[in-house]
Amino acid sequence: MEWKTIIEPFKIKSVEPLGITTREERLHILGTAHYNLFNIRAEKVLIDLLTDSGTGAMSAAQWGGIMTGDESYAGARSYYNFENEIKGLTGFDEVIPVHQGRAAEKILFTVIGGKNRYIISNSHFDTTRANVEFSGAQAMDFPVKEALDFDKPAPFKGNADIQAMEKFIKEKGAKNIPLCVMTVTNNSLGGQPVSMENLKGVQNLCRKYGIPMFLDCARFAENAYLIKLREKGYAQCPVREIAEEMFELADGAWMSAKKDALVNIGGFLAMNNREWSASARQLLILTEGFSTYGGLAGRDLEAIAIGLREVLDENYLQYRIRSAQYLGEGLLKHGVPIINPPGGHGVYVNAKKFLPHIKPVNFPAQALACALYLEGGIRGVEIGTLMFGRRDAGGHFLPASMELVRLAIPRRVYTQSHIDYVIEVFGCLAAGKTNIKGLEIIEASQVLPHFTAKLKPMGKGAGCSTKKSGFQK
Ligand code: F0G
Repeated sequence: MEWKTIIEPFKIKSVEPLGITTREERLHILGTAHYNLFNIRAEKVLIDLLTDSGTGAMSAAQWGGIMTGDESYAGARSYYNFENEIKGLTGFDEVIPVHQGRAAEKILFTVIGGKNRYIISNSHFDTTRANVEFSGAQAMDFPVKEALDFDKPAPFKGNADIQAMEKFIKEKGAKNIPLCVMTVTNNSLGGQPVSMENLKGVQNLCRKYGIPMFLDCARFAENAYLIKLREKGYAQCPVREIAEEMFELADGAWMSAKKDALVNIGGFLAMNNREWSASARQLLILTEGFSTYGGLAGRDLEAIAIGLREVLDENYLQYRIRSAQYLGEGLLKHGVPIINPPGGHGVYVNAKKFLPHIKPVNFPAQALACALYLEGGIRGVEIGTLMFGRRDAGGHFLPASMELVRLAIPRRVYTQSHIDYVIEVFGCLAAGKTNIKGLEIIEASQVLPHFTAKLKPMGKGAGCSTKKSGFQK
């Protein structure tokens, strides 16, 4: 018998209290944080959906690994466990540990980036783009058209537009394109998966022009499981084999282990190219550490090795993917528009469509994120005008093409009742959404303004209509 209820496939051994506050306290907290949720102390957040990065719960086996981790400076046993696990999964010979994903990006693009070069991708994640551009190169995104039609479901909205990529390669010349990176899943556009067919198509294109293809594989297991669920021919295939096939198509990969390696810190860069890896190790030693620890403790390497195995457990992945779907379905029932279908690691609310009365220059997604905190103590993250941070000559923010609030679900942390609560709070926001008012900038930095910007609400009213208005003077 197939039961309808998909349960969390774990029991809880250690618990942490949630940060319970009153609405009145949260109103005060928002004010002192200048309506920037990055400035709020985490202990004042009830359900923290800011990110799924480094926020997961490790298993008892991983905590066991923490105790047995080998802290030797060079040649630690934990490094070899880490290396073996990554070699076995990815097939790449050169494995370089790093403290997190962006360290791998910084090192790789220092080696292969530079002026007059282009990196092509389905979509670069922010830190990837920043590191490409810091090297002097340009980061070019080629998402498929359906990725930008948020309402209409499609199984593989993470795919790359291969024709557009080829046109670009012909225009700029393959010799100026040192790398193509496929981000699996595509975090910037909704945590959407890439199909195996698309990966093969991109690989063919890259082979044709002699461009190496890497995976930014932070969420490779979620991507592999979504291939199993959605792509013809993969339903019976063990998810580990699907993941191995994904890596087989690539020439290298980097990973923020803070996602699908189920740990709180760590990452790696892996490839077969000896020349690139030798240069990368030189840079690693300069800033991260010796090549058998790369800025991590031995215990971290041990926990990553265990996590990379655990994440491919199909009961875990079924629960994981179902959690985001369940949240997405709940929001849609309340008429809250989302990127449909939900992504692998969370749900992205389309604030532009939800709050049409707030002009993009008044940060509708940030306003929604603040209202969500005010009403329910829930923290999401704005992906919109504030995060993209483009300014005109006078320093005024230019509207972004999308206004999203990402609700990223930490791995193995929250239960279904927590998600039910999030859905209920959204029901309240939906009922009183016209009371949510836009925001104005008080102060914003040039670089990554969303982390430090100070804002204030415009005029009167905010939050949920069933309660006293929150943003009143
Ligand atoms: N690539 C992808 C696809 C990511 O999602 C992230 C991080 C990185 C690279 C960088 O890794 O944080 O370990 O340095 N994403 C986090 C997020 C920050 O909230 O989505 P990192």
